[in-house]
Amino acid sequence: MSFNFMTAEEAAEMIHNGASIGLSGFTAPGTPKFITEALAKKAEREHEAGRPFKVNMFTGASTSDHVDGVLSRANAYNMRAPYQNVPDLRKRINAHDCHYFDRHLSEMAQEVRYGTYGDIDFAIIEASDINEKGEIVLGCGVGNVATYAAMAKHIFVELNDKLPKSLYGMHDVYMPLDPPYRREIPIYAANDRIGSPVLIVDPSKIIGIVRTSSYDCVKPFTAPDEVSTQIGKNVVGFLVSEYRAGRLPKEFLPLQSGVGNVANAVLYDLGESTELPNFMMYTEVIQDAVLELLKKGKCTFASTCSMTFSDDTEKKLFADMDFFHDKILMRPAEISNNPEVIRRIGVIAMNTALEADLFGSVNSTHVLGTRMMNGIGGSGDFTRNAYLSIFSCPSVSKGGLISNIVPMVAHPDHSEHSVDILVTDQGVADLRHKDPVERAREIINKCAHPDYRPLLNDYLNLGTQGQTPHTLKAAFAFHNAFSDTGDMRNADFAKYI
Ligand code: COA
Repeated sequence: MSFNFMTAEEAAEMIHNGASIGLSGFTAPGTPKFITEALAKKAEREHEAGRPFKVNMFTGASTSDHVDGVLSRANAYNMRAPYQNVPDLRKRINAHDCHYFDRHLSEMAQEVRYGTYGDIDFAIIEASDINEKGEIVLGCGVGNVATYAAMAKHIFVELNDKLPKSLYGMHDVYMPLDPPYRREIPIYAANDRIGSPVLIVDPSKIIGIVRTSSYDCVKPFTAPDEVSTQIGKNVVGFLVSEYRAGRLPKEFLPLQSGVGNVANAVLYDLGESTELPNFMMYTEVIQDAVLELLKKGKCTFASTCSMTFSDDTEKKLFADMDFFHDKILMRPAEISNNPEVIRRIGVIAMNTALEADLFGSVNSTHVLGTRMMNGIGGSGDFTRNAYLSIFSCPSVSKGGLISNIVPMVAHPDHSEHSVDILVTDQGVADLRHKDPVERAREIINKCAHPDYRPLLNDYLNLGTQGQTPHTLKAAFAFHNAFSDTGDMRNADFAKYI
């Protein structure tokens, strides 16, 4: 059979109002960029003509401005899942212009297969290569594409000539059977390969191929500031002390690292450590720091769902594929984030919090309890199942007006049952084997900013009842003080009790 080559505009014309679309990729890499841009223009035209036009968009994780930016500005989303991080979409979500389902990333594909999201009309897949048997070499991210491609009625492919054909062999596409037939996921070490190097789709479903040419458009990281650098040093110092104490195996354990500048700073610091042995990563994204660590040999292998490299780093990778080819393996999100595998191989999870409370619960998603920031992403998949779960955040935000250590988190994403270690620029709180009051003292003394320690101690001293001595009437005094006065330091517990 021969494929039908078309423009992005022609492809977008075939997508109808109300369609459900599944995209390849995870973060910007591997995510299509052109059909979605054309779709946004179509939505604008339809809206100008007075006709409704919205689609349901399912992805691996966050995307890029080419997807969530343009389509949000065109107000073209009815439903979106499972994760996002684009300011224009955030605004739509918080204004109730878009139904957003913030899901654990490992669960999205199976939920789609279980049928809870309805039919998938179109899958759009970014590819570096394709043949007539329907064998697709993916780009720099995988996400939930195997499920979307299997479920979609129709498939579009964006064939991107900036992606080298040598990406062949860097993917491990595997889709587990669904209950009651599911078996174990046979990964026993981060570098075990269990699936296919190509995504195999039914070629008769491919209704159009669009030739494209673009790098993944990931912005370069800003140099870590003083606070991120201090957090990085504290995380690494903690891991070294655990290693010295023999609480981590001498071979060390695979690392997972969240996204953002702090995560990148932690990895750079790990690369500098002479005491920690070389390590592997079992994670959902690898950022720029990891390419350097692989080059230095400090990181010996990275299992990931996406190579979230800035464009300059992506070019370095493409220029040196012989070196990196067998050191990076990209897997679907339900495998990169699989709880069974994370628990089995003993991943050390390092994620970022918006705020944490005195007893160890963490809010990763909702600013001041109500406004969606990004989503839970993979942080729940890793935190709940890790050998060691570490959360970090600056002790204060907005120049000290906000304490990121609060009496009670205004939205709980990770409970104290899952959080082992809390790290801020102030220090490291080890919450393991401590009762709630011991945890609270540890967090106040080691993690809270000095400006907030007296207030947090006052709150702790208010509580007289129960094992976890919250005083519910005053638990949100910090948040209320910020809403009323713009400064959490004005928290006044007496007002509430
Ligand atoms: N209350 C209100 N605002 C807060 C806040 C708090 N407690 N903590 C931080 N903020 C603000 C910051 O001031 C900053 O605002 P700005 O953009 O106006 O400057 C913004 O939130 C981001 O803060 P920052 O410290 O730069 O966060 P980050 O980029 O490191 O991201 C999370 C932190 C939690 C938003 C991000 O890690 C996330 O989305 N996590 C959930 C998903 C996840 O963990 N994925 C990885 C799994 S593998």
